[in-house]
This record gives sequence, C-alpha cells and structure tokens, in this order.
Amino acid sequence: MTDLRRPVLAANWKMNLGPTAATAFLEAFLVRYAPRDDRTVILFPSAIAFGAARSAAAARPDLQFGVQNIHAAEKGAFTGETSAAMAHDAGARYVLVGHSERRHVFGETDAQTAEKVRRAAAHGLAPVLCVGEKIEEREAGQTDAVVVRQLRAALEGLVAEDATALRSLVIAYEPVWAIGTGRTATPQDASSAHRAIRAALGDLAGSGSDEIPILYGGSVTASNASALLQAPGVDGLLVGGASLDPESWAAICNA
Ligand code: 13P
Repeated sequence: MTDLRRPVLAANWKMNLGPTAATAFLEAFLVRYAPRDDRTVILFPSAIAFGAARSAAAARPDLQFGVQNIHAAEKGAFTGETSAAMAHDAGARYVLVGHSERRHVFGETDAQTAEKVRRAAAHGLAPVLCVGEKIEEREAGQTDAVVVRQLRAALEGLVAEDATALRSLVIAYEPVWAIGTGRTATPQDASSAHRAIRAALGDLAGSGSDEIPILYGGSVTASNASALLQAPGVDGLLVGGASLDPESWAAICNA
C-alpha cells in the first residue's frame, strides 16, 4: 500500500443472497463494521437484490455499491440484460468487468470486455476490470504476459477516447486457479503480478495511472486478508465466498 491509496475492500456476492438474505446480511454487517475513512468498502449484490441491499444500507453512505455485470450495448432487445445507464440509475457506481467467470464460463472475449469498459465509463460507472491467468498459463511462465494482454485489450480504446476516464478505474488481479478453490496466491505472487500490472498501466496511461487501485482476489479469507493487504503493490481485496458471511466480511473490512 502506498499512503495515497486507501485500501478498497470489495464483496462480489456472485449468484448468492437474494433480496431477503441481502437485507439480513446488511443488518448483521452494519453493526460489525462502523464507518471508517481509511478504507473504501464496495458491495456487488446480484442485480435482483441490488435495490434491497441499497435500501438496507440507506443510513450508511460510506458504503458503495456496484453491479456484477452490464451489457455492452446502450439499450435494446437484450432479454435479461442490464444496461450501464440502468445500473447507474439504480445507484451503482461500480461495475465488475472481465471477471474470470464471465470470461471462462460465459465465453466473454477481450473485445467484449473492452466494449463494456467503455460503456461503463460513458455512463459514470467505474469499471472494476478483472484480469488473471489460468493455472496452465502460470505453469508455462505466462502470468505477466496474460494479465498485461488482458489489460491492454480492455483499456486501449478507453485511453484513446478519454484518458480522464481512467481515473475512476479499479483493477482486480484474480488468478483463475485461486478463485473459489481455497488456494490463495502468496503475498509474493500477488505482489509480482501487481508489479507487472502497475508497469503496464504506466505504459498505457502515464503517471496519471498511479492512483488506480489494484486489488487482489482469489480465496481471500478473514485469516489471510491482512497479510495480502500488506503485500507491496496490493491496494485492496475483491472477495467472493468469504464476503457472504457478515462476520467474516466485517473482519476483512476491518483488517
Ligand atoms: P473467492 O473469494 O470465492 O475465491 O472468489 C473470488 C472472486 O472471484 C471475487 O470476484
């Protein structure tokens, strides 16, 4: 962590916690996590629980909200999808883009990821761009090359169009082999990938990119959160499973 960036703790609930469960979660979480001005906490509920989660946190403007996905198009006949404008209208200020489950389960490409990044930025949603290598890519020594390729592919269009939009960007390094597996990257592994990402951001966008936070995600728990947060270059955490329990999520937010 540098002093200028306060840690960002982000909860990706994935396809968990409907409106009733999200409301109960927030009731339990809010009493365990008092507002702190030395960190930013962002929750990514499912689209269907988004409104309920925001209402349950109405008294806590310190908490930020984002959506887990948007469609790349402005609007139209895309049954089941959510547009960037609609997400912003509902109170989202962030959106996950390029998550490994979108890439590897739903087959989203680098090009689609880039379109979503631009659409999000155009509607005032800060993209949380996720990058990360598969296990075979790590074993082949391609980790840095993969994350830098994903980063460049997603951001080059945005940089060319509107370099200032980069200021709201957040990056999450999530090695695919660490997601939901209980196999966390070591703080050294995280630092090494974050260094490559930081350098690539500098090449793309110059020193204006210094303030972009780079989060680590993949089997973060209340037990390993503080070691990961202390790793050089790690500016925050993106948490799946351990963010579903209000007690462990509060412990991570207070780490
Ligand atoms: P887990 O914390 O469950 O490994 O998930 C990480 C993740 O994908 C967050 O986006």
